[in-house]
Amino acid sequence: MTNLNYQPTIWTRADALKVYENDPTTTQPLVSADFPVMDENLFIWDTMPLRQLDGTIVSVDGWSVIFTLTAIRSPEEFTNEQGEYDITADWNDRHGRARICFWYSRDGKSWVFGGRVMEEGVSPTSREWAGTPILLNKKGEVDLYYTCVTPGATIAKVRGRLVTSDEGVTVEGFDNVKSLFEADGEYYQTEAQNQYWNFRDPSPFIDPVDGKLYMVFEGNVAGDRGTHVIGEAEMGDVPPGHTEVGGARYQAGCIGLAVAKDLHGDEWEILPPLVTAVGVNDQTERPHYVFQDDKYYLFTISHKFTYSDGLNGPDGVYGFVSENLTGPYRPMNSSGLVLGNPSSQPYQTYSHCVMPNGLVTSFIDSVPVQKPNSKDLDYRIGGTEAPTVRIKLKGDRSFLVETLDYGYIPAMEDVVLRKKHK
Ligand code: FRU
Repeated sequence: MTNLNYQPTIWTRADALKVYENDPTTTQPLVSADFPVMDENLFIWDTMPLRQLDGTIVSVDGWSVIFTLTAIRSPEEFTNEQGEYDITADWNDRHGRARICFWYSRDGKSWVFGGRVMEEGVSPTSREWAGTPILLNKKGEVDLYYTCVTPGATIAKVRGRLVTSDEGVTVEGFDNVKSLFEADGEYYQTEAQNQYWNFRDPSPFIDPVDGKLYMVFEGNVAGDRGTHVIGEAEMGDVPPGHTEVGGARYQAGCIGLAVAKDLHGDEWEILPPLVTAVGVNDQTERPHYVFQDDKYYLFTISHKFTYSDGLNGPDGVYGFVSENLTGPYRPMNSSGLVLGNPSSQPYQTYSHCVMPNGLVTSFIDSVPVQKPNSKDLDYRIGGTEAPTVRIKLKGDRSFLVETLDYGYIPAMEDVVLRKKHK
């Protein structure tokens, strides 16, 4: 039986002080500024490979499928006074017009754009934010868990179907969005408690031990903004000179947990956070699991700019490991850092997703380039898939071992669909 009467694991300031930004075993190799772009008319960022509830990355009838947060590039709208396209302004604006689209490929890397998953008007709010597409069965049915944002932030799901042919993949259905839950104000901070609250990014999974359906998601610890207390437990064993925390009470990230009533996943009960980052970091985004060697590896992405005063770490993916679903967890590599950007290119990639085969996908954000005829650095905006890398998980540690192709997300298993008879 899973112990549901647990205390969250505290990611302490002392743990985070161990983050070492340029450790080669936890640093993503430099992404070159001459990267290829998947589609000149689109920005893509958070990438969601099709998977089953046990985490296996799957293809259907030999087609790999990924879902991405996507925005149409809008050079007409983002033209500056000099008549130039301000791609940075366009890129920074993308969150407000995010749509979930899908792509398919035969080789797990030559992605063909499939279009939107939901038609305009289906999703009830203005933004379609990250989540997880789950292949349910051999009929090709998919539950897309995602986040409906602005107004509010609601974890939701929509069911549809993937249809394959020799030419590619199309979608059917995805026309009826079901709201699952919002932040409760008891465990997870609400908009009323903090207008900058974070509540999103559902990642459902079946616990390999108890067989029940759960999901992890991004939250903030409940309580009014600025009222969180950084006590001894949140501080950890810090060295002399590290007791001043500045405005650290404003950062209160956490990884949330919910359990479903049954394997249909239509009714959910919110549980306490698994890991909290009060006084450490304000965002623990897109949490997800890898189950390996009888361990629970819980990953989450976070930013340099969301760390608290007195702490510093790269944009990248962080990990926590336990022998039990509900913890206690240990920060991987002692600090939590699993794979960060190099300090010379601090924004080169983001939104890493660690897959059960050790491959880690992410998107390119921006890569520095030399300005022509000048010593100044400029940067090139990505909005496309980054090179995939491979890491190895060994007990509480991880090691970066290989760089692969851009956007390489191979299936671990192919599912042959039963054709629908009309
Ligand atoms: C991560 C993220 C997610 C969110 C999305 C919004 O890159 O911030 O947490 O769902 O991007 O664009």
